[in-house]
Amino acid sequence: MDEKDTLKYLIHEIKNAAQPIIFNLQFLKKAYDKSPEKNEIEKRLLSKLLVQADKLYEMARNVNLFQKTENDVKRFDLHLMIKEIVDDLQGYINEKGARVKLAFDLQIGAVNQDGFKVQTVIMNLVKNAIEACNEGSEILISTVKTGESIMFSVENAGPKIEEGLRDRVFEPMFTTKEQGSGMGLAISKRFAEHLKGNIDFISNDMKTVFKFDFPEDLEVYEKTSDRRG
Ligand SMILES: Nc1ncnc2c1ncn2[C@@H]1O[C@H](COP(=O)(O)OP(=O)(O)OP(=O)(O)O)[C@@H](O)[C@H]1O
Ligand SMILES: [Mg+2]
Repeated sequence: MDEKDTLKYLIHEIKNAAQPIIFNLQFLKKAYDKSPEKNEIEKRLLSKLLVQADKLYEMARNVNLFQKTENDVKRFDLHLMIKEIVDDLQGYINEKGARVKLAFDLQIGAVNQDGFKVQTVIMNLVKNAIEACNEGSEILISTVKTGESIMFSVENAGPKIEEGLRDRVFEPMFTTKEQGSGMGLAISKRFAEHLKGNIDFISNDMKTVFKFDFPEDLEVYEKTSDRRG
């Protein structure tokens, strides 16, 4: 086994071990939460264990994602994908009392890209916007097509990302959150590069806007860049 295989094996084992731990902890937590005679310390301990086990699983999943270099290019409906991501995060959005506004460029039809990677990037950016947004504020998600290029952006009202952290936020394991793994933007940046795209942001005292641009058709893009050079 070479180094890469060893890592793959290790990740696989961690995920396989973490899954039943999480499952059983969830089961125990449900039973505990229902019984008033159980003591508060035990309940709190159980919640903490569950959070830590989740984190372990997420870490293994993220390291796994980080290794995924090949692209799996297919046609998909970008706007449908975004709506599904927002649906999946709706509970989270409600918890923050936030509202999501969608502003789609209807010129955008099917996109020919690695859907899994596009989905992962958008999911991470939207999740970050929800986590950063001010209580009860609006999150604006938009798409714009310029030539052969798509620009996805997500804007939230919230604290500024200080100038000194401009590059650091993209580093693996950089986080300012208690429960963050700090892998979201690192993976997103790397995936964006695989898709011949880019991620950038602007941030001031009022709002932060993350922008993710990528070619509408990766195969066409690669063919034309082959011809160019
Ligand atoms: N919209 C945003 N507004 C303000 N800060 C942000 C925003 N998005 C990202 N950040 C900052 O960048 C850091 C890194 O983000 P990243 O998504 O990589 O990790 P995370 O969200 O902390 O953890 P994870 O994504 O792994 O759960 C965050 O901890 C936060 O400090
Ligand atoms: Mg994140």
